[in-house]
Amino acid sequence: MQPDYTSKYNAHLIRIIVVLVVLAVVGIVVRAMVLPESFGLYGHYRADAIQDEINRPIRNGTNASCLACHPYIRQMHLEGVHRTVSCEFCHGPVADHVRDGQVIALLPKKQGDEIRTLCLRCHNRIIRARPRESIKMISMPRHLEEKHVRTDHICNQCHNVHAPLMWVKQAREIVGIREDKS
Ligand code: HEC
Ligand code: HEC
Ligand code: HEC
Ligand code: HEC
Repeated sequence: MQPDYTSKYNAHLIRIIVVLVVLAVVGIVVRAMVLPESFGLYGHYRADAIQDEINRPIRNGTNASCLACHPYIRQMHLEGVHRTVSCEFCHGPVADHVRDGQVIALLPKKQGDEIRTLCLRCHNRIIRARPRESIKMISMPRHLEEKHVRTDHICNQCHNVHAPLMWVKQAREIVGIREDKS
């Protein structure tokens, strides 16, 4: 005779379903607790993030934010080949230097190897992605070897950082080489 028992073949399924339901309820409750209020207002993100970004203090100005107080550099910079280059790229944000029209701290002045590193960030031939037709590239140390100087020369020994061809042009005029480059 067959033993008399009721099949519990679906007991494991019921356990899984109970666990899933509990997880779902916990999930819904936790989500409701942690979801930022403005989430979903404009889409799948926190709408207040826009206001947060708007409220962030502005750290960078434009070259115009420097020129009024630095007339000597202004003149050189505007006349030289670096006239399109941002002061702040080389010096750091105006917010670290000036607040409400008052100087609050000095921006670090680069020197020595820092200057070489700075210049080569834009002028290094190794950077293949640079548009060569707009920015002139050099290779180091070849650039210095061609000039027959020691290869530890720093760029600003020959190039005025604010008008890089100024001294080069003056030197050419002195030795009588004519060239109509700006
Ligand atoms: C409100 C006027 C003002 C503005 C705007 C201003 N500066 Fe200056 N800056 C000064 C003064 C004043 C000094 C100190 C001059 C000194 O002591 O020889 C100075 C010094 C400097 C120095 C030299 C730091 C040193 O160690 O000698 C640098 C570099 C400089 N500023 C860059 C900038 C740049 C870049 C900007 C624009 C982002 C700028 N400044 C905007 C007034 C200003
Ligand atoms: C290509 C990078 C570069 C750009 C662009 C640049 N500077 Fe400079 N600047 C330097 C370096 C490097 C020095 C320090 C070395 C030197 O003077 O030869 C310096 C020095 C200075 C000094 C101190 C000068 C002194 O004699 O103590 C001031 C002030 C200054 N820069 C302001 C400006 C302003 C204002 C602009 C924008 C109009 C500007 N710079 C654009 C790289 C740059
Ligand atoms: C942010 C990028 C940038 C940095 C940093 C930079 N330059 Fe330039 N440089 C330029 C641009 C843009 C030009 C203008 C392109 C042109 O006229 O060839 C230029 C032009 C020049 C030229 C003239 C090229 C020619 O014959 O027309 C020289 C020389 C030069 N830079 C040297 C330097 C030196 C030295 C430094 C470091 C103090 C430096 N640059 C830092 C972007 C940069
Ligand atoms: C010994 C002086 C000297 C030093 C140091 C020097 N240069 Fe030059 N550089 C020149 C002269 C002169 C020119 C003019 C063009 C030529 O003769 O190559 C020039 C031209 C350039 C040009 C334009 C190249 C072209 O194709 O027209 C760039 C860019 C340049 N230099 C960047 C730099 C950088 C960056 C450094 C620092 C790593 C530097 N130079 C150091 C003398 C120098």
